Amino acid sequence: MQTIVTVSELRQTLTQARRAGGRVGFVPTMGYLHDGHLALVAASRAQCEVTVVSIFVNPTQFGPNEDLSTYPRDFLRDETLCRDAGVTVLFAPDAQEVYPSQFETYVESGELAKPLCGAFRPGHFRGVATVVCKLFNMVQPDVAFFGQKDFQQCAVVRRMAIDLNLPIEIITVPTVREPDGLAMSSRNRYLSEEERRRALAISRGLLAAVDEFRSGERDVEKLVAIAKRHLEVVDRLQYLELVDGDTLKAAHSPLRRTAALCAAAYVGSTRLIDNVMLALPSP
Ligand code: PAF
Repeated sequence: MQTIVTVSELRQTLTQARRAGGRVGFVPTMGYLHDGHLALVAASRAQCEVTVVSIFVNPTQFGPNEDLSTYPRDFLRDETLCRDAGVTVLFAPDAQEVYPSQFETYVESGELAKPLCGAFRPGHFRGVATVVCKLFNMVQPDVAFFGQKDFQQCAVVRRMAIDLNLPIEIITVPTVREPDGLAMSSRNRYLSEEERRRALAISRGLLAAVDEFRSGERDVEKLVAIAKRHLEVVDRLQYLELVDGDTLKAAHSPLRRTAALCAAAYVGSTRLIDNVMLALPSP
């Protein structure tokens, strides 16, 4: 595995790999890797000869009162995990490499970025779309892999790739959960033992709604209410919404199209997100 910190060296290395006929798979991350990230790496390795992982804690996707300065970082551990997972290139640029001085060009997403996290984190998806677009231009992958846990991010990135004619296949990989159901996240490390126990309510609530849906429940209010009962133990429920799986607009009863039940909640001072898909065949 090669660890690279500049765009010029990255380009040189990947040009050679492409000449050798390799498909390039790309896994963008903010580091502090866990099994969810490693599932993205495994998906890339199954489809591509070359797998590039980026580690960059992107300042433009954090709001002024969010956890940019305390976001967990452990580069040496991440490097070992990537090497052991068979990553070809680890790209770890610094902020200056990604955002040169006088940087002023952003990617602005549309309707998909407005609900859910977009409503509570102004500017978040502008930062995500901008950095993902820049990383795509740096790596020029054939395929890019994102985790289902960031359901809205997947929708925004997929739309951006279509709208900006980026010749990149976007693949969403299912959420990896701890054995008790908690969705894996770098932010789980902020949780105390007691908070970790209460955080479980998020996945329990969502999965309880999935059970009811599988038993035939199609009423939006009832499905949301089932999940909400579990979520009473979190400190602040930011949103719990059942939205159309494609448009991310509020779903209507009875459900006739695939929907996503999405939640964001604070447990202590940690903001966690999770979602489940309620899949239906297209009408
Ligand atoms: O999902 C993340 O870790 C980040 O939002 C991403 C896609 C790496 C962009 O900074």
